[in-house]
Amino acid sequence: MARPDPHSFFDPAQPRTKHVAFAFDVDFARRAIAATARLTLGSPSSGRLDLDTKGLHLKSVQTGDGRPLPHLLEEERPILGRRLRLDLPARTEEVVIAYETSPEATALQWLEPRQTAGRRHPFLFSQCQAIHAREIAPLQDSPGARITYAAALTVPDPLAAVMSAGPAGDAPGPRPGTRTWRFEMPQPIPPYLLALAVGELASRDLSPRSRVWAEPGTVDKAAWEFAGIEAMLATAERLFGPYDWERYDMLVLPPSFPFGGMENPRMTFLTPTLLAGDRSLVDVVAHELAHSWTGNLVTNSSNEHFWLNEGTTVYAERRIHEALHGEDAAALAWAIGEKALAAEFERFAEKPELTRLRLDLDGVDPDDAFSSIPYEKGARLWALLERTAGRERFDPVLRRYIGTFRFTSITTEEWERFIEDELPGIGGTIGLDRWLRGPGLPANAPRFAAPVLDRLAALAAGWAGGARPEPQAIAAWGTSETLVYMQRLPRPLSEADCAWLDRALRLDDRGNYEILVEWLTIAAASGYAPAFARMREVLTTVGRMKYLRPIYTALGQAPATQALARDIFAAARPGYHPLSRRSVEGILQKY
Ligand code: BES
Ligand code: ZN
Repeated sequence: MARPDPHSFFDPAQPRTKHVAFAFDVDFARRAIAATARLTLGSPSSGRLDLDTKGLHLKSVQTGDGRPLPHLLEEERPILGRRLRLDLPARTEEVVIAYETSPEATALQWLEPRQTAGRRHPFLFSQCQAIHAREIAPLQDSPGARITYAAALTVPDPLAAVMSAGPAGDAPGPRPGTRTWRFEMPQPIPPYLLALAVGELASRDLSPRSRVWAEPGTVDKAAWEFAGIEAMLATAERLFGPYDWERYDMLVLPPSFPFGGMENPRMTFLTPTLLAGDRSLVDVVAHELAHSWTGNLVTNSSNEHFWLNEGTTVYAERRIHEALHGEDAAALAWAIGEKALAAEFERFAEKPELTRLRLDLDGVDPDDAFSSIPYEKGARLWALLERTAGRERFDPVLRRYIGTFRFTSITTEEWERFIEDELPGIGGTIGLDRWLRGPGLPANAPRFAAPVLDRLAALAAGWAGGARPEPQAIAAWGTSETLVYMQRLPRPLSEADCAWLDRALRLDDRGNYEILVEWLTIAAASGYAPAFARMREVLTTVGRMKYLRPIYTALGQAPATQALARDIFAAARPGYHPLSRRSVEGILQKY
């Protein structure tokens, strides 16, 4: 049978792993995790079982009762890693593999104490999406191969551990100076949702089913910022159906975390750049929370269907936003997304095949195909369905979609059949095939209008002709209004214009990273030297790729700022996550 996922050796005709019991022993000095993974199969099986591995150093491969198991670790293949081919004796129920992770694993970032807020202890976190779980464990590493898991994670005192699972207690570890933290994940998850973090951590309860974890010096700020989580959960349940994961906890990571958020089940991982002090950036939390339905319950069956995860989740996130803050606020969020989408169509001008929703990723690394297109184009497709069917008819369809496919992994084609069953004829009406399989944004994409948007766009369009916002207007803007305005300003700006903007919007001392980064992007594109010190500081402390990419790209526009970018990158590189490193290297290469 043909493999269903171009990024995995998973073969659905072979035995399935149902449950994995992990023992992880974290060694900061060697930047390695010594591990055993006990894989329980769905039923007693024999014959071939192919697992994904990457960078793993195998120590032993045995059956559950300790007999050596015939196996072959094949040669390294680009993107995929090394297939571990097992030959299971009759009626094998368990496979036990002892191994060690590589210090080079992209799935793990090992932080020095100085890269943390507390500066006293090291920190470790994982990031497995899209195909990095195989660097932490030998698995059928495809979203179609769901597993439950249990784990015992041994870490040095006084560090704490969290995982994408329920806590199951902690106790002194096997060696003095260690502690073992136990976890259980009883719901079946795709392997990319396996996650762990280790560091000096404290927590605060936000509601009976939610708490936030962070370094001790950050945790109160985090608790304040995310205090609205229960209201968000309740809103999401009303829109999408019951929350199926019992608890919703969050972890705020050190600033090198390469994403805004990652929807690890029961333990969303978040960038500390969300801690703006005014709760203005909690949309990212709404997004990760929404993944509890769209992505974690109903999962893309491979990265060729990634839009099913992210497009659906952006749509869901904006519905939560609308329910909590109203239609105008949601229209601003759509408008901000529209700019991101336009920028991505430009970036992929030479690769229009990557602007489709349904992708063909044979031979393409999902990290290289990553863009805002599945997010924003996918969300617009859902919004178009909603508008065409009418919300009253549409909302129950969305809930049935989640109810029908919960705890399964599906393809775009299965989604299409479901939509056609639920809303007969709608595909033809809206040109669904072109939405899914054509490049760019179809002309019937929904528009999101609001008077405030028109005012901001007109004001920005008048910049060249001398129009400037009044101080009272600026004072009344929230984060979204300020962003929409700034995104629409022409660039490069003259030195005098940059100075005006900096002063009028008090940009230099912004603690809000969305606004700060938009400003630094304008300043970078304009070669505005007074902003370079702040730029250097941001680029050397923050690893969130959404922020690195636009600034480094804008610095590429003139030789002087190219040199600055190279200089900053040389200093920042050792502190960057492997993904951030690779992403910036790609940008600098194109200079
Ligand atoms: N699941 C993604 C992050 C991701 C995608 C990691 C693909 C690795 C591979 C997460 O839910 C996400 O989309 N985060 C966004 C949040 C935003 C859209 C609100 C981010 O990090 O910026
Ligand atoms: Zn997402």
